[in-house]
Amino acid sequence: MPALTAEARRVIEAEAERRIGWGSQAITSGQARLHHALATNDTAAVQQATAGVREGLLLLESGTAALRAIEVGTAPRQLAMTWFRDQLGLPPTEASPTADGGPWGLSWYHLTSMIFLVAFLVGTLLIQHARMRRVSALVERLSAAPAGGPAPGPAPAPGEPSEPRPPALPTGGPSDFPASLVGTVPAPLASTAPSAAAATAAARRPWSGKLRVAAIFRETPTVKTFRLVEPGGGDVPFTFMPGHFLTVSAELDGKTARRSYTIASSPTQRSHVEVTVKREEQGLISRHLHDRVAVGESVEVSAPLGVFTFMGEEASIVLIAGGVGITPMMSVARYLTDRSYPCEIFFLYGARSPEEFVFREELEYLQKRHANLHVAATMSRAEGTAWMGATGPISKEFIARSVPEIARRRVHLCGPPPMMEAVRAALAELGVPKDQIKTEAFGPARGVAPGTAAPLPSCGLAPVGKTIPRIATAEVRFTKSGKTGALAPDQTVLEAAEVIGVEIDYSCRVGICGACKVRLLEGAVTMEVEEGLPPEEKARGVILACQAKSVGNLAVEA
Ligand SMILES: Cc1cc2nc3c(=O)[nH]c(=O)nc-3n(C[C@H](O)[C@H](O)[C@H](O)COP(=O)(O)OP(=O)(O)OC[C@H]3O[C@@H](n4cnc5c(N)ncnc54)[C@H](O)[C@@H]3O)c2cc1C
Ligand code: FES
Repeated sequence: MPALTAEARRVIEAEAERRIGWGSQAITSGQARLHHALATNDTAAVQQATAGVREGLLLLESGTAALRAIEVGTAPRQLAMTWFRDQLGLPPTEASPTADGGPWGLSWYHLTSMIFLVAFLVGTLLIQHARMRRVSALVERLSAAPAGGPAPGPAPAPGEPSEPRPPALPTGGPSDFPASLVGTVPAPLASTAPSAAAATAAARRPWSGKLRVAAIFRETPTVKTFRLVEPGGGDVPFTFMPGHFLTVSAELDGKTARRSYTIASSPTQRSHVEVTVKREEQGLISRHLHDRVAVGESVEVSAPLGVFTFMGEEASIVLIAGGVGITPMMSVARYLTDRSYPCEIFFLYGARSPEEFVFREELEYLQKRHANLHVAATMSRAEGTAWMGATGPISKEFIARSVPEIARRRVHLCGPPPMMEAVRAALAELGVPKDQIKTEAFGPARGVAPGTAAPLPSCGLAPVGKTIPRIATAEVRFTKSGKTGALAPDQTVLEAAEVIGVEIDYSCRVGICGACKVRLLEGAVTMEVEEGLPPEEKARGVILACQAKSVGNLAVEA
């Protein structure tokens, strides 16, 4: 490039490298957003993400074209002409030195970029088309079988027609409702959207294998963080979204026990994942992790699982957590601040005492660095400590003080069941619509089979997998193992199986992972949470053993 001075050449090179850097970043972030948008069937977000990828490609292309022009000695004027011609889509002049022998006067580089771009766009459109077809099929099935209703009885026997049976009519038809309520029933598409997202997540098979404990950090007197890495080095062998959880399995006393732990680290961190675990006084796995697992040991893990995720798809987020329920919120806050999410993040936290405030220093640090992160914490007990902040539970007043215009924002909520119930009531009083509140429970869901009295309040949590005296009203026959057990109205099929030693796989025990799916051969069940069960499988007679309850006799394939 004879007409360029060394200084001008350096300036062009620097600008070109900057463009290549920006372009690569825009492509990577566009792909991540595209992946998420496709997973949630958000067509507007798909368009935005593809526009981002396109912009990234243009930046990358302009940067590499400039570098290449310098390399082959293109004159600055010719370089600018070629760039403008490319942008306007005009054919290059015959004398164009960038047309290095490709067809139609285009350079091979230009042609390859265009083919790649077109192939990428066509691929994206095809994937989107296929997804939309699957969603329509799902919507059709859902409108035929109302979610939350009784699961259909036996699956069709071999040879029988495989169409789903018509669902039993609900006892109360629309005419049973007061006219004023009929209009408030959500439109079918809106009501099925979360199930469709859950079905997508449940359909994906999680990765399973061993991870090595690389470090253990004490967060509070009862909470530790375990950093897990790929034993052979490199990135963790799965990707996840902020809010996903993993399952830890351990062989204890000759039995395999499994518990779920939210990944508290950010997906932007690829070299490790972290789980933050509270030690339960009598807990099987939490005590095992706290008291026996040491740095260098391996743990058996399945991941990722769950639908309680947020990747910045809305224009603000309110995260409300109590106790160790802070873990999914921490992953979201870490991810959003890492990615410079431009909107407001409200982080409300309740702990028993300042000593038990998990991630306190990190939240204070993040708040100082990110003006859009607003942390507000309240302590149930603070007497005799240096705590100067709010005290008492997370109340309606505390929420209203901490979050302006909360009724217009999306809220994520996780914590102990009584705290979640109180916060739900407070949010309702503050006018937050139910469908704007996403929750995750950290313990087995409690429910009552229809037609039975509510169980008496119990003091303390029932140990998972162990029995408390219950009055059985029915029997469940497990056809593969040939065993039959008693079934109380407030007992799940999984619990009944565990009592008589019938093995049914499980993971979360709260109806969201789908690990406990079994086929119902006789009888009908109710399920409180069905997020881990795609509607088409429910229509084929599959149930979630951790949720299924019944007052009548059942036969289950297990
Ligand atoms: C989706 C999801 C995400 C989760 N994420 C997290 C997380 O990030 N961090 C976290 O700490 N937890 C999390 N949990 C909870 C976690 O999965 C476990 O439930 C929790 O660690 C307790 O398991 P455990 O084996 O120690 O206790 P279990 O043995 O299952 O016992 C459960 C409870 O019963 C009590 N108990 C047991 N036996 C007795 C007895 N004989 N007498 C009296 N009480 C008894 C225990 O103290 C404990 O409180 C999550 C749960 C779910 C479903
Ligand atoms: S164990 Fe996860 S859905 Fe039942």
